[in-house]
Amino acid sequence: MIDRYLALDLVRITEAAAIQCGRLMGRGDRDGADKEAVDAMRSALNRLEIDGTVVIGEGERDEAPMLYIGEKVGCGGDLKIDIALDPLEGTNLCATGAANAIAVIACAERGNFLHAPDTYMDKIAVGPEGKGIIDITQSPTQNLQELSRAKKCSVQDLTVVILERDRHQELIREVREAGARIKLIGDGDLSAAIAACDSRTGIDVAMGIGGAPEGVLAAAALKCLEGDMQAQLKFRNDHEKERAKKMGLSDLNQVFGIEDLAKGDVMFAATGVTNGDLLKGVRYFGGGAHTHSVVMRSYSMTVRYIEARHNFQKKPNF
Ligand code: FBP
Repeated sequence: MIDRYLALDLVRITEAAAIQCGRLMGRGDRDGADKEAVDAMRSALNRLEIDGTVVIGEGERDEAPMLYIGEKVGCGGDLKIDIALDPLEGTNLCATGAANAIAVIACAERGNFLHAPDTYMDKIAVGPEGKGIIDITQSPTQNLQELSRAKKCSVQDLTVVILERDRHQELIREVREAGARIKLIGDGDLSAAIAACDSRTGIDVAMGIGGAPEGVLAAAALKCLEGDMQAQLKFRNDHEKERAKKMGLSDLNQVFGIEDLAKGDVMFAATGVTNGDLLKGVRYFGGGAHTHSVVMRSYSMTVRYIEARHNFQKKPNF
């Protein structure tokens, strides 16, 4: 079991990333915002007494100067953990001031996150009522019918979140034909998967192809929220297939369940960068900022929302 005291430390890390990149909200500079989030997350991580390894990160060492896959983080200690992170999930959302940009981190005992290559992943994510009934090998229509039965409503009552991409034209057509409501989003399918676990958001299921790293992070969150998820990697070319094999995947068509993506005891934290379905964005005032975060553990299933007020005079890092 991962020490529960780590939970608040994880929030400090996502708060730091959100505060730094949130300053660039709407400035049209997605790379600049991402860099701010990466720098802040990295220095906060390196103050933690952990022996951490980034397994889902900003990319490979040669393409990402920091928080690359394989990078050692933390200032040492007995706690050996693997870390999955996305310092700014939704770089475009932050750059344009759109909803649902978040700073995210998750940790698990060593070897428990899927070492997913940075490729695409087909995903279906639902909340607790859909647990055990989704099947990514079945059609979207069949999944919606099963979900409506489990939720004791009609398919017309369900809301599906789908990334607005050309590759999803057929999916969107089928979901419309099935009769469900659709929320098309520009970016941020990790937030969408989490939102499916909270009835207050009005979102019932997230479907479609997005990033594989976001898929592993979504699985970590959904485990803590009693949600469910299935996924399948989608490769764009042979190079990506080769990389996946090198990372230890033998069956490239494997259907991953939530436990295959994030095994055992996991912890997850996120802080809102821009306002969203679940979290408020960073609000700055003279000399400080307010943040809104969520932190959760699969071991206890405790989900904590944390509103924090930060005084920059006391926190020179900001
Ligand atoms: P970034 O934060 O890296 O910009 O990712 C945003 C995102 O929308 C993810 O939520 C999603 O999984 C992925 O990009 C989809 O990729 P693409 O934009 O190539 O369709």
